[in-house]
Amino acid sequence: ARPKPLAEKRVLITAGGTIERIDPVRYVTNDSSGKMGYAFAEAARELGAEVTLVCARTDGPPPGGVAVVTAESAEEMLEAVMSRLTESDYIVKAAAVADYRPLHRFDAKIKKSADTLTLELVKNPDILQTIGEWKAARPAGSRPYVIGFAAETNDLEKHALDKLHRKKCDLIVANDVSAVGAGFGSETNIVSVYGAEGLVENIPQTAKRLVAERVLAIAIDRANRETAA
Ligand code: C5P
Repeated sequence: ARPKPLAEKRVLITAGGTIERIDPVRYVTNDSSGKMGYAFAEAARELGAEVTLVCARTDGPPPGGVAVVTAESAEEMLEAVMSRLTESDYIVKAAAVADYRPLHRFDAKIKKSADTLTLELVKNPDILQTIGEWKAARPAGSRPYVIGFAAETNDLEKHALDKLHRKKCDLIVANDVSAVGAGFGSETNIVSVYGAEGLVENIPQTAKRLVAERVLAIAIDRANRETAA
């Protein structure tokens, strides 16, 4: 049998793109497929973890053997994640959370009338940052190990490290979404993993499932070394 380094560990994973409602039949979303989050859920399950998968809009059904929680919008996802922080050993924030949501959510379908229509947007809470701030105030040894993502089109390292420090997470998995074979909807990914000290590892193009396995191996190793230190 394969070793189960995540046996008795609880892993919380977010996946997919959030949906921000405009009216009962319309919404704003993004191109996230949820595949990367699903791959993490499968990989963590195979390593023995008890997995909770918080799903926004995703393509296809979630993997079996994991607990699925649906959270449509960023605000719902924030609530789903924050209410599960103390029981999580690892958090993988693979969801593409909308940065903005419509300021007003109309109760009735908006009727077609004027030639132009302005949609006013308001900033969403940053879930990863909220987790980071919560975590910073907790004693060592009782904090989840947090993995964030950075989808960039340029200056990968600079943006990834900036995100890691600003959002106070432990690892950032960065990918160039403009590269062929990487990012949204793709079966494969090409990522660079960063820790507080800088580049940890470049993972060349490979299936998202293998990316997830490698990132989890790095996270488990680093989390174990932190608690041993
Ligand atoms: O800043 P950016 O959106 O590129 O950061 C990406 C990371 O932050 C991802 O891990 C994503 O899940 C998380 N995020 C979040 N809440 C937001 C925006 C992003 O948790 N409102």
